[in-house]
Amino acid sequence: MKVKKIQNLDNFTGTILIPVFETTAKSIVPIEYHGVSVYSQVFYGKKDTHYLVEKYDSTHVFIGLGKDLDYKSLKTIFRRIAAKQKDLFGKKVALVFPDSFNNNQVEAAVSGLLLGTYNLGHYKKTEAHPILNADFELNYIANADFEETIGKAIKIAKAQLETLALVDLPPNKITPKYLSNWATETGKANGFDVTVFGREKSEHVGLHSFLSVGKGSAQEPQFIIMEYKPANAKKHVGLVGKGITFDTGGLNIKVAGMVQMKCDMAGAAAVLGAMQLISALKLPVQITAIVPACENSVDAQSFLPSDVIQSYAGHSIEIIDTDAEGRLILADGLSYLIKNHKPDTVVDLATLTGSVVGTLGYECAGLFTNNEELSKALQKAGDAIGERLWQLPLWDAYTPDIESEIADVKNYSGKPVAGAISAAKFLEFFTDKHTSWAHLDIAGVAFVDSEFAKTKHATAYGVHLITNFVENL
Ligand code: BES
Ligand code: ZN
Ligand code: ZN
Repeated sequence: MKVKKIQNLDNFTGTILIPVFETTAKSIVPIEYHGVSVYSQVFYGKKDTHYLVEKYDSTHVFIGLGKDLDYKSLKTIFRRIAAKQKDLFGKKVALVFPDSFNNNQVEAAVSGLLLGTYNLGHYKKTEAHPILNADFELNYIANADFEETIGKAIKIAKAQLETLALVDLPPNKITPKYLSNWATETGKANGFDVTVFGREKSEHVGLHSFLSVGKGSAQEPQFIIMEYKPANAKKHVGLVGKGITFDTGGLNIKVAGMVQMKCDMAGAAAVLGAMQLISALKLPVQITAIVPACENSVDAQSFLPSDVIQSYAGHSIEIIDTDAEGRLILADGLSYLIKNHKPDTVVDLATLTGSVVGTLGYECAGLFTNNEELSKALQKAGDAIGERLWQLPLWDAYTPDIESEIADVKNYSGKPVAGAISAAKFLEFFTDKHTSWAHLDIAGVAFVDSEFAKTKHATAYGVHLITNFVENL
């Protein structure tokens, strides 16, 4: 895609995108642009509406923005136009930014347009979206120069598109090995180092809790370590993403919803996408990111309910339920990261519990931390770009839920209540009392129903949130 600022539409014919703030249905002043006027009875800029006018050999697309719109709504409006009106983009395109648009609004609009190129039909014989053509030209009219902002918007969308594909592609394609290869290649292209421990090396290092989960799978587990070290970094952030490439539940096999469990590596995908974006933007913060990746499958080798396993931290774990596997791989990811890399702040992202979906639904992720400053910074970063978080407690009153008779800790309370909290308490046990750690349970927001597909699909939740958080440290 090429981007070009133009002064006016004098020599332009093609598709003209004209975002319009809401006036009123009763306004006697029509909406007017480029010699085209539209009566307010048919279009007055109401949010989620648009109106097409063919004139002077151009298609004028008036796009309703509503009155005061947030980042996510604006992005969705543009995503919708690109996704659902593909034909409009076969021609030359000019985008007319309202005079009041700021950098954030331009960023949301452009990244939304690009996200609209996403097609779930990865294995269908379909033509690529015209925006993805190398010679597609995005012309824009604005009262300021938005070149840098548009460049950033493109990077955001590219990282999110990669993340969407990682989550939506099937588990026979997105194996642990696929994720480690993806990390290695992206690291080479963007300038971060990647180290991968396979089964043997993980055994040697002592990642026993991680390895237990992958025992029943034919796919070799991959413990992926990514290090981005810009010269000017003053802070060091650690990230961990749950990379269960498929969650059958193990021997406690899932009796409902198993078909959706290719999304159980969405935390990993968010961390991978954030690494791509942070390094592409050259943000001046050191990042060490860990993705423990494996498949939770069923086999004679599978770990058993009631097994007692070891962990990297040296704590023994009683397995009550093999479907509570995410916390087992995160435990080793967190303790390995904290012991060996000593980041100032640690954030983990995981599709960890059905419980968080029952609690918060699909609107926001669950946030767990003992650090109020970190909590506020993460919530602020998310609110700004429409990836919301809501804090749930980590009080000591919940500790008995993970106390075991036989081992140092157990992986499930056995009770049908407060599942997201006891999972977070389990993770906390493996953070070595780190004073700046947060856990994001993204099970409700990573893979959802929306207007963009007939089946549940990825959202890339977390990529922009983490990047925005890092950017504002
Ligand atoms: N991967 C699931 C959680 C999940 C649920 C992700 C819905 C995405 C959508 C996780 O590994 C799991 O199975 N959790 C169990 C834990 C229970 C057995 C303690 C759950 O939440 O039911
Ligand atoms: Zn599970
Ligand atoms: Zn899982």
